[in-house]
Amino acid sequence: MPSLVLKIMMNKSEFNVTVIGAGTMGNGIAHVFAQHGFPVTLVDISDDALAKGIATIEKNLGRMVVRETITDDEKQQTLSRISTATQLESGAAHADLVVEAATENLELKLKIFRSLSDICREDTILASNTSSISITRIAAVTARPGQVIGMHFMNPVPVMKLVEIIRGYSTTDAVAEKVTTLSESLGKIPVVVNDYPGFVANRILIPMINEAIYTLWEGVAGVYEIDQVMKLGMAHPMGPLQLADFIGLDVMLAITRVLHDGFAQPKYAPCPLLVNMVQAGKLGVKSGEGFYIYTPGEKQLVVSPSFKGK
Ligand code: CAA
Repeated sequence: MPSLVLKIMMNKSEFNVTVIGAGTMGNGIAHVFAQHGFPVTLVDISDDALAKGIATIEKNLGRMVVRETITDDEKQQTLSRISTATQLESGAAHADLVVEAATENLELKLKIFRSLSDICREDTILASNTSSISITRIAAVTARPGQVIGMHFMNPVPVMKLVEIIRGYSTTDAVAEKVTTLSESLGKIPVVVNDYPGFVANRILIPMINEAIYTLWEGVAGVYEIDQVMKLGMAHPMGPLQLADFIGLDVMLAITRVLHDGFAQPKYAPCPLLVNMVQAGKLGVKSGEGFYIYTPGEKQLVVSPSFKGK
């Protein structure tokens, strides 16, 4: 029996990947694994969610065909490698690797990992795409904490090069190496980090965005001006307020709270404006309004009327 690393490199078509959650991150993760030759089972609770996830993958592959990054034949082959399931039992039973990308909710993730621990073979690696929940905590509810690891992909997954690999307290060297090799086989650049609140990416990114929100709240500058400074002055592809809308203000707030709770330092306190916006249901792109307003088919960035003239 070849080692798992050899198996991945020798024949991707025999290495089964299960992705849990067909939302933005889950469908992006399924997309890149399938595009790189892995059979993927995409699991979600409803057929409707799965249909939406597959439609997004098809749209993003189509975009790559138009840009001539892949051929139409590669698009069809990628789609043919993805199957779907609404039950964890059937969807994960044959997995060599599971990547969980369900909603960012601790209780839900613990429930999923408890089930995976029972359903999956003993040698299956269980990864989470969590952006802030402790891998160590997730691993502790399984009977195989050494085989639990973070695989934090960035949005949009087909485009962004980084996979932040998070070693939990008990993750073994062998599992970290295997997941590193796997990430490289997707054309990504893995970076291995340790399990502390926010890991590296969000420990640095989220306070920067939170500070941009404080800067707006205190009237130092407007939405457009803050984003222009960071785009033109620091070559960021998106300004921090646009990026907050893109990430989702509810997700932003949840990660800020994880940092605030985890380090118990006032510097991580969420800006009251962020809290208010989430309470008002202004969640960014997904709700149609955050710091900007989003109209389907409209590419021009328009500052939300709530911030005009401030
Ligand atoms: N699937 C496939 N391709 C996509 C895509 C998708 N979902 N979205 C964009 N693309 C491709 C486009 O086809 C285009 O391809 P080419 O370069 O080959 O022409 C390229 O990406 C650029 O896209 P656009 O021209 O449409 O738009 P853009 O130049 O404005 O780039 C962007 C869009 C890539 C999103 C860019 O604005 C960007 O990099 N933004 C910052 C993204 C970021 O910071 N992500 C991390 C968020 S934090 C996170 O994810 C972690 C967390 O836990 C919170």
